[in-house]
Amino acid sequence: MYRTHTCGELRSEHIGQKVTLAGWVQRSRDLGGMTFVDLRDRYGLTQLAFNMDEDGTLCESARKLGREFVIQVTGEVIERTSKNSKMPTGDVEIRVDELTLLNGSKTPPFTIENETDGGDELRMQYRYLDIRRKVIQEKLRLRNKVALETRKYLDSINFMDVETPYLIKSTPEGARDFVVPSRMNQGEFYALPQSPQTFKQLLMVSGIDRYYQIVKCFRDEDLRADRQPEFTQIDCEMAFVEQEDILNTFEGLIKHLFKMCRGIEFEGDFPRMDYAEAMERYGSDKPDIRFGMEFKNLTSLAQNKGFAIFDQAEVVLGIVAEDAAIYTRKQLDALTDWVKRPQIGAKGLVYVKYNEDGTLKSSVDKFYSEENLKEWAEFAGAKPGDLILVLSGDLEKTQKQLNELRLHMGNELGLRNPNDFKPLWILDFPLLEWDEESERYHAMHHPFTSPKKEDFDLINTDPGKVRANAYDLAMNGVELGGGSIRIHDRALQSRMFDLLGFTKEQAEAQFGFLMNAFEYGAPPHGGIAFGLDRLVATMGGADSIRDFIAFPKNNSGRDVMIDAPSRLDGSQLKELGIGVD
Ligand code: AMO
Repeated sequence: MYRTHTCGELRSEHIGQKVTLAGWVQRSRDLGGMTFVDLRDRYGLTQLAFNMDEDGTLCESARKLGREFVIQVTGEVIERTSKNSKMPTGDVEIRVDELTLLNGSKTPPFTIENETDGGDELRMQYRYLDIRRKVIQEKLRLRNKVALETRKYLDSINFMDVETPYLIKSTPEGARDFVVPSRMNQGEFYALPQSPQTFKQLLMVSGIDRYYQIVKCFRDEDLRADRQPEFTQIDCEMAFVEQEDILNTFEGLIKHLFKMCRGIEFEGDFPRMDYAEAMERYGSDKPDIRFGMEFKNLTSLAQNKGFAIFDQAEVVLGIVAEDAAIYTRKQLDALTDWVKRPQIGAKGLVYVKYNEDGTLKSSVDKFYSEENLKEWAEFAGAKPGDLILVLSGDLEKTQKQLNELRLHMGNELGLRNPNDFKPLWILDFPLLEWDEESERYHAMHHPFTSPKKEDFDLINTDPGKVRANAYDLAMNGVELGGGSIRIHDRALQSRMFDLLGFTKEQAEAQFGFLMNAFEYGAPPHGGIAFGLDRLVATMGGADSIRDFIAFPKNNSGRDVMIDAPSRLDGSQLKELGIGVD
C-alpha cells in the first residue's frame, strides 16, 4: 500500500498514529533547524515536518525536494505548534521518519496553486498540470456530481440509458457537421452527430418510452465562451407525453441537481414566458431576469422631432440603468465605443442623464427639449439619478444590440450575482425563421418539432407566424436546454420538409428512415436536451464552460496540448481515397 491516508484526511484525533502519505510537493520552507513541506493530493494538503536535530540526513534530503516531486513519507501525526485554521488538516503535521522519492519533476511552467501565473494558452498546453490545481478539480468534481445525480434522478423515474452511434449520417441541428471518411466505402463519409435527435425518436418508436443519455455532440460552428465543438448533452426523450409533462419532469431534474449539488432549493414553480414577450421585454430568448432594465419602446415619442436617425429607424428602444446618471463623459464614450464594436454592430448610442436635481441632459439635446426628454423618462420609468440608454434601427438588430448592452450594463453595475440563480422557461417559439441569405425558411429548433394545433391553418397561409410546441430553459442569460414535442405523423413530417424547401427526393434520401419508422405505430413523443457543460458552469457561477471540461479546445477549435487537428500522412490519405494539397 502506497498510503494509509490521503493528504486531506488527518485531524487532531489522529495524533499519535503512524501514517504513510503519498503525493506532490506543493511548497517547501527551509527554516534552518526545521524544513516544512506541503504535500498535496486530490484530497488536500498536509504539512510534513523534518527536524535537523533529530535526523540531519533526512532533513537534507527534504531540502532537496523540488516543486511537484512525487514522494512517499511515513511518520507520526503530531500536534502543530502554530495551527493553520484555513487548512482542514491545519491542526496537525507529520513528523517524518522515512522519505522515498517516487519521481522527480521538471520545474512546472506555472504555479500549481489556486492563484496561478499561467495564462490560458499555457494552462491548456499543460492541462494535466492545470488539473492538479484545486480550483479546477472542484469544477470537475461538480461536473461529476451533476452527472451522477442526473443518472440517479432519471433512473428513479424509469428513464433508460441507451447509447446511440457516433458514426452516422448528418443530423439537422443547424450547425455544420464534422465528417469522418470511410476507408471501406471510399468517397463516402460519416457525419458525427450534432445530437442523437433522430435516434432518440426512433427509440420512442421502439417502445423505450423514457430514454436518456449523457452524450457527446459535435458541431462545427464559431466558438464562444459557452460553445465548444464537442460538448456534452443530457439528452432525453419521452413517449405519451405533452409539453406540460416534459416541463414538469425536467424542472424536477434541475431542482434535484441544485439541491444535491449546490444545496439550493428553488421555491415554487419556475416562471414561464412566451418567446414573443421575452423578445419584447429583453430582446433575447434567454433573458437574464436577475435584474430589471427591461426594454422600453420609445419609437413614437422619439420620432418626428427632426432627428433623422430615429425618424428612419424601425424602432427606437431604450433601457434605464438605475443610479447611473453619474456616468462621466469618458464612461459614456467608452459605452458608445463598446456598442460600436463589430461584435455588437450598433451605429451609435444615445444617452439621457436624468440628473439628481431633476434636470435632463442628453446627447441629442439639439433635437429634443427637456420636456421631450422628461416624457421619455416618465414613459421609461426613470427617476432622478438614472441613465437612459437608447439604440435604434431594424427591430431584430436593435433588440440584439440592446440585449448585449443590457447584459454589459448589468455586469458594470454589479447586478449579475453569480450565486443567484434565476431559471425561466421560454415557450411558444416560432416554428420557422426566415433566412435572408438562402431566401427560405429554416426550422427554428429542428425539422421534427410539431406546430401548435391552433396554428395549423397558418401553415399554408402565413408559415412565419406558426408557433411550435418548443421550449427552452434559460438561466442567468444562458440557454441551458431546449426541446420540443415532435411530429409523429408521416404526412405532417413530409409537409414540414416541404416547407423547409426539401424536395421529396432530398427528404427521402436524408430522413427516409425516420419517416418510414413513423409508418409503424409511432407514439406521440417529445423531449429535451440540456447542455451539461453550460449547466455545470452556470451552477459553478462561471460564464465560460472551458474550465469545466477536462480537455477543452481553444477558440480556433484546437487542442493545443495534443496539437489537434493535424495533418495525415500520405499513406493514410491514400488509403482513405482522399487527396489534399
Ligand atoms: P439544442 O440544439 O438546443 O437542442 O441543444 C441543446 C443544448 O445543448 C447545449 N449546446 C451547447 N453547449 C456547448 N457547446 C455547444 N456548441 C452547444 N450547442 C448546444 C445548449 C443547448 O440548450 N436535439 C435537440 C434537443 C431536443 O430537441 O430534444 C438539441 O440538440 O445548452
